[in-house]
Amino acid sequence: MNLAIIGTGYVGLTTGTCFAEVGHRVVCVDNNAEKVQMLLEGRMPLYEPDLEYMIRSNVDAGRLKFTTNLESAVEECEIIFIAVPTPPHADGSVDLSYIEGVSHEIADALKPGLGYRVVVDKSTVPVSTGGKVYQVIERYAPLGVDVDVVSNPEFLREGSAVHDLMNPDRVVIGSDSQRAMDMMKRVYQPFNAPIVEVDLASAELIKHAANSFLALKISYINAVSAVCEKAGADVELVARGIGMDRRISSHFLNAGLGYGGSCFPKDVKGFINVSEQLGAPMEILKEVERVNAAQLERFLGRIRKKLWVLRNKKIAVWGMAFKKNTDDVRESVAIKLIKRLREEGACVSAYDPKASETGARALAGYDVTICDDMYECARGAEVLVVATEWKQFATANLVKVRELMRLPIMFDGRNIMHAENAVHAGFEYHSVGRKTLGRTNLRG
Ligand code: UDX
Ligand code: UDX
Repeated sequence: MNLAIIGTGYVGLTTGTCFAEVGHRVVCVDNNAEKVQMLLEGRMPLYEPDLEYMIRSNVDAGRLKFTTNLESAVEECEIIFIAVPTPPHADGSVDLSYIEGVSHEIADALKPGLGYRVVVDKSTVPVSTGGKVYQVIERYAPLGVDVDVVSNPEFLREGSAVHDLMNPDRVVIGSDSQRAMDMMKRVYQPFNAPIVEVDLASAELIKHAANSFLALKISYINAVSAVCEKAGADVELVARGIGMDRRISSHFLNAGLGYGGSCFPKDVKGFINVSEQLGAPMEILKEVERVNAAQLERFLGRIRKKLWVLRNKKIAVWGMAFKKNTDDVRESVAIKLIKRLREEGACVSAYDPKASETGARALAGYDVTICDDMYECARGAEVLVVATEWKQFATANLVKVRELMRLPIMFDGRNIMHAENAVHAGFEYHSVGRKTLGRTNLRG
């Protein structure tokens, strides 16, 4: 099938590439000419595992194209996916101006003789947005165009986006038109995934409800981690014990510094706002946000308690990305932590395997030393903080790290380090929701 994807970001680019991989002909459209030029030259505008090779092979096979020309994409393609940002306004409501703008552009590009077109919303949007997209198209398109609007939310995780797209747990398609539904089922037929066929509004709600539930699950285990710290229990053991119950499941039960990224914070806020607008407020999600913010505060408080005064202390931070396997630092808790440490006068060096450029941009003006080697980052430090769950941190040579540091104190904000190894290497090892291990009578 001929598919257009409007918005070539983390979602649009990976989705378009995976559609091409299963045999569709895909045109990825973006209004950022620089980004499109990079892609045309075979350069990557973002880091996502396995994506670069897949883009190259599909471009070579003639199934994947990049352009800034939305009009020609609408002419060529029977299905048009919208994957542009839906950022939060200051009051938590969702900024739908990009969605509205693109809908208007699609309407302008639609011509009566073109034939049937399906416009699919892939971006996360408040319930009832699909209806508004349809209204915009109806209002601005010439009379006689034949179009339906569908909601098809995306559940990919950054860092494992290609895998998630190629092996979805389910595909949600929301439409009030059987004709559009049948076309969408053909798009997804090669993926062999269960398809959840629902009405438009339910599909939109599924996305907000799913992301908020996952955020709630993380906040739940983080709240439990605070209890564990007081009780001298171990949150990892508690999570294992409850996660083996299949009704709960072990996924998304990792305690840490809290959730970040471009989706959970925005979608929880968005769902709170939408539910309030509808007169059925999801008060429970306010507590989810509160727990998430408290998690970083409690962790900072523990570092402060250990060092007494943060001013002029040298703190090394491993990790800037909001999670492992990405260069994305949007709403990254690691970045928030670094900023807080700097505001209190600590000297901070930071390292991330993929997010050093994006991290440096996010930290501009904060005078943070960005290192290109994780061991150099730790040199002379009084505390090492692990802020992102990269695998290479967990497998680091901790004896070497300890020898480079001024004091052997580690704060593992993601519970990924091997606690016994850290202690054997001579560290005083602090983590989330677990007892502190190792030396506790450090001089200084
Ligand atoms: C997208 C997702 O589709 C959505 O679910 C989420 O709500 C936020 O936006 P992501 O792909 O991570 O997420 O966003 P981003 O990496 O910022 O990419 C968006 C792309 O759209 C950018 O390349 C931007 O240049 C492009 N864009 C934006 C357009 O092509 N047209 C516009 O009008 C606005
Ligand atoms: C999320 C959803 O998982 C995905 O379905 C949706 O399409 C987009 O939003 P993403 O934000 O890319 O994906 O990554 P995810 O793996 O969900 O992690 C989000 C945040 O939660 C990260 O900061 C991560 O560190 C944190 N997290 C995740 C935890 O703190 N504990 C966990 O157990 C899982």
